[in-house]
Amino acid sequence: MNETLQVMQQHRSVRSYQDKPIPAEVLDSVLDAAWKGPTSINGQQVSLVVVTDPARRKRIAEIAGGQPWIAQAPVFVAVVMDFHKTELGAREAGEEQVIHNSVEAFAVGAVDAGIALGRLMIAAQAAGLGVVPIGGIRRDPQAMITLLELPSLTFPLVGVAIGYTDQDSELKPRLPRASFVHRETYQADALPALIAEYDRTLTQYWQAIGRGDGLPWSANTAKFYQQVYFPQVAPAARAQGFGFDL
Ligand SMILES: Cc1cc2nc3c(=O)[nH]c(=O)nc-3n(C[C@H](O)[C@H](O)[C@H](O)COP(=O)(O)O)c2cc1C
Repeated sequence: MNETLQVMQQHRSVRSYQDKPIPAEVLDSVLDAAWKGPTSINGQQVSLVVVTDPARRKRIAEIAGGQPWIAQAPVFVAVVMDFHKTELGAREAGEEQVIHNSVEAFAVGAVDAGIALGRLMIAAQAAGLGVVPIGGIRRDPQAMITLLELPSLTFPLVGVAIGYTDQDSELKPRLPRASFVHRETYQADALPALIAEYDRTLTQYWQAIGRGDGLPWSANTAKFYQQVYFPQVAPAARAQGFGFDL
């Protein structure tokens, strides 16, 4: 297996970082990996806001609901959906942008932000750094918008904390591959047994790493999805100028 594939197979989120800065050229190569990624219609509707200031990282850790690893890691990169740039382009072309009034903008922006996030993580891990993606910034998007001085038609979708690993994490097992890779058509009938199998696997994993509070996948997923756990996303997005086909 080549080195890139090995890095990808070894993915785990790291939540313990050394107090050690990332050299500028290393960080730049990680950022470039996202910059060079593909985007829908070449719209490039993603921007990164790189935060190294300790006070600002501490604030992001609070906004994300108390996640100390954000303050600990020397770099936090916010991945921002950006229809502000594209609107400037449309105006330059003498046209009016309307895509941001549709949920399609969120589909495009979220896919492109996900690609950027993935590339950031792989590049960082290939450079010997640890990473943890952070969706927790959507807990209070308006606070992030204010903190990062984001203009209208932008939205902080996700972020990633990057740094040198202090205490490494164990690889977390996934749902059985057959629940993920479907051949030709979606294989719904097989799912209940595969989910039950994974609930057992994950319970054993939590026991093995001494996490008595770890839940089986079904219960953990239900804990989140029995509610809209970040209810501020829609109002904050509307305040930024996004519509949802309404
Ligand atoms: C989009 C996204 C958002 C995430 N948000 C957070 C977060 O806010 N805090 C956190 O500690 N982990 C976060 N995670 C990490 C997941 O919990 C983690 O990827 C998952 O449990 C699998 O574990 P692993 O990454 O170690 O394999 C996020 C992951 C993704 C992909």
